[in-house]
Amino acid sequence: MCGIFGYIGARDPLEICLSGLEQLEYRGYDSTGIAGVGNGEIKFCKKAGKLSNLLQAMNLRNLESAIGHTRWATHGPVNDQNAHPHLDAANSMAIIHNGIIENHHVLRMDLIASGVLFTSDTDTEVIVQLVAKFYAGDLAAALQKALSLVQGIYAIALIHKNHPGQIIAAAKECPLAIGVDPTTKESFISSDPNTFLSSNLDICFLHDGEIAIIQRGHVHVFNTKHEIIRKKTERLELQYTVPSKDGFAHFLLKEIYEQPNTVYKAILGRFQEQTGNVEFESLGFTDEQLSSYKKVCILACGGSAHAGSIGAAYLEELAHIPSQCEIASEARYRSLLLTPDTLVIAISQSGETADTIAALRIAKAAGCKILAICNVKHSTITREADAVIYLKAGAEISVCSTKALTSQIAVLALFALHMARLRGLPVEVAQTFFNNLKQIPDQINQVLLAAPKLQALAEKYAHYEDFFFIGRLYMYTTSLEGALKLKEISYVNANGCPAGELKHGPIALINANFPVVAFCANEQTKDKILSNLAEVKARGAPVLAFAPVGMDGVQAIADDIFWLPPTTDMLAPFTSTVAAQLLAYYIALKRHCNIDQPRNLAKSVTVE
Ligand code: G6P
Repeated sequence: MCGIFGYIGARDPLEICLSGLEQLEYRGYDSTGIAGVGNGEIKFCKKAGKLSNLLQAMNLRNLESAIGHTRWATHGPVNDQNAHPHLDAANSMAIIHNGIIENHHVLRMDLIASGVLFTSDTDTEVIVQLVAKFYAGDLAAALQKALSLVQGIYAIALIHKNHPGQIIAAAKECPLAIGVDPTTKESFISSDPNTFLSSNLDICFLHDGEIAIIQRGHVHVFNTKHEIIRKKTERLELQYTVPSKDGFAHFLLKEIYEQPNTVYKAILGRFQEQTGNVEFESLGFTDEQLSSYKKVCILACGGSAHAGSIGAAYLEELAHIPSQCEIASEARYRSLLLTPDTLVIAISQSGETADTIAALRIAKAAGCKILAICNVKHSTITREADAVIYLKAGAEISVCSTKALTSQIAVLALFALHMARLRGLPVEVAQTFFNNLKQIPDQINQVLLAAPKLQALAEKYAHYEDFFFIGRLYMYTTSLEGALKLKEISYVNANGCPAGELKHGPIALINANFPVVAFCANEQTKDKILSNLAEVKARGAPVLAFAPVGMDGVQAIADDIFWLPPTTDMLAPFTSTVAAQLLAYYIALKRHCNIDQPRNLAKSVTVE
């Protein structure tokens, strides 16, 4: 699971590839590497660790073309040997790969039996060794033959010292965009077209089994029969701006602080106050279509699945339509019994999460229409869905997602309202809901203004190694998200748990070193959560409560309370989540963790 980039043209390929890799680090940062052809030989440099390590070791010069890779390790530990690119034994070609080769072991054994020496533990090296075996002057044909033996998924770029003016690319179930500028005679490839540093490109995406020969300013694409095919190209609106922390210590903190604005942008112009109707720009589903659905199935992973669970609850509570949120990595292997009368919603910040894409394809094959809720334009999910609602949250750089989640919840709230209006929700009820939603940006701001209080709480709780995060209904999902944020960036054991389930097992773990963070904002279950808090308090747990101003009873039980602006039960996830994000941030800060790029994680998980 990785990012791949390549450039061939008049500018310095090394410089362009390094800039591309900087933007692709969200796909993994276990190692990085670059290879190019220069003076008739393959030159390469690769290093374990982040791009900064590669930059320190960089010794390449005068390349005619270059390919670059940023890795999230799947096969083989994180070290220099397993970093991409991988070369054949004669050092005549170099390959980079995103994906997984499932039958790599069998192929490796065959190659070893025929005398090939491997230098890495990766599945990728098998491909380059196979290409070397089949190469007889036609690099694309050799790659095609090698890929015919391979089972798995891939996006690949390959260069050869005898073909200095070419990059060969191939893809199967992994994104690979090719951008060509015939005027400047430049060509790019990337796992993500948003990383192209030029806005003047004709762009196409490689489909399964296609192989491309990329040269300066033009590209030839072949199908599996090695016949040349004409690809449809498009001009994409790409507006790259260099990410900036804008004075914040970390991207994560900056993105937390952006939320009053990003939530505002997610709802801006999408609700007609007079009529009580929701209007998404070019939604792509007619009112008749939406009215005809009997069920909604939401597919997502990670934080997006938490937003999805809240969205499913909104759809049930507002629109009275049976709705479920399924974790995509599970859903893809289950019998979901999807039928075309179910609307499928795929939620993903990046639009590139492999499991969400796979589940979406299964839903499509079952005849369902797909609505995507995404942040990143031109991503795979936005291209494969029937319609898209964009979050408009701006680039999210920190691996740990914050602003995307609150924007997802805002969009889901509006979508549920839309479905509800189509099913007869009275205008006044819609208006009241929206009026409460409109206040959320300001209420998030109030939480941000109280950040010093959260920092003080974080300092008090930062030394604990285990936490329960508990809540009921909307606050249960919020507790899952709060726990996920804490474990992602602080590496402490934090578990989200429905408050009512504690007594069925988890409570056995409670002692004075096991704090319980309780989200108390749901009015409907206020008394129940207070009973649960009393139960853990009685067993010695330190209790930190996030409670709405004015909540009675909590002071008598909790050791510490962070007061939140009161809102409705349905909208309480916004402010509670932001408070949990800040708590996690300050605990991670106190524990000296790598906040923007936590160990072992990647922003976009492009393998299953
Ligand atoms: C990764 C990220 C998470 C994110 C999840 C889903 O695990 O580290 O922060 O929630 O992927 O990503 P998506 O882009 O599909 O929302």
